[in-house]
Amino acid sequence: MTGVKIDGKVIAQSVKDRVKQAAEELRAQGIDPCLATVLIGDNPASATYVRNKHKACLEVGIATKDHKMDGNITQSELSKVIDNLNADKSVHGILVQLPLPGQLDEFATTSRISPIKDVDGLTPHNAGLLAMKKAALVACTPSGIMEMFDYHGIDLVGKNVVLINRSNLVGKPLYHLLLEKNATVITCHSKTKDLSKYCQSADIIISAVGDRSKFILTPAMIKEGAIVIDVAISRFHEKIVGDSDFDQIIQKASFATPVPGGVGPMTVAMLLRNTITAASLSSQIGR
Ligand code: GUN
Repeated sequence: MTGVKIDGKVIAQSVKDRVKQAAEELRAQGIDPCLATVLIGDNPASATYVRNKHKACLEVGIATKDHKMDGNITQSELSKVIDNLNADKSVHGILVQLPLPGQLDEFATTSRISPIKDVDGLTPHNAGLLAMKKAALVACTPSGIMEMFDYHGIDLVGKNVVLINRSNLVGKPLYHLLLEKNATVITCHSKTKDLSKYCQSADIIISAVGDRSKFILTPAMIKEGAIVIDVAISRFHEKIVGDSDFDQIIQKASFATPVPGGVGPMTVAMLLRNTITAASLSSQIGR
């Protein structure tokens, strides 16, 4: 059996088309949607991701502000930058690119962002709303994956979903989004015993490990007809790879995402959508 490729580029484009339309509608109301990014240090992967986010904003008519900070910046200096962006009425979304250099605290940083500008859905306010099924701004990678299921008409009710990730950006928001759709969700992580046993039982596996020296999701680990969403992206032997090899896993899976060209483009598309949502939210409360 050969499964269906879930093409992130195609699905992301359909999201971007809708975002572009929404951006035009906001501009007609006098609101010029704008995303501010904060990039700290010289991590080349982070720099590439931020560049791609700016490029995508340009494509759909979202304005951007680009803050590049020295890798040695202190927590209080970073807090001032975030406070200024929170107060800036022309900025609707704020994204601090992660990971941060070691001297900076991720929670102190992300929780400093105004919840209505929190396009990553990482503030305690927005993470809490998600757990209560009331979120307006949800982390981009998880909502992008949900969009992929929706695009392909994949019914999640009663499905056994295994997450291999427990981060605030991926695993935890996904857990809530999948539960909302009545899936049965198991969260696995680096201390899980007998991961293969969980994978074998899964109708859907969402894998985000990102280190081939520690973990590879092989066809032998999945059941026939499973759906595999590969969130990981890393460099291995000079190639960009995920946790699985698409050409092999698709022989056994009913649906699978490639890397690159799968989840990555969806993360960017959902960031654009969140920026539009944030711009609408601030216009509703008159800011
Ligand atoms: N680093 C990797 N993915 C993300 C993301 O979705 N948001 C932020 N802020 N940083 C990231």
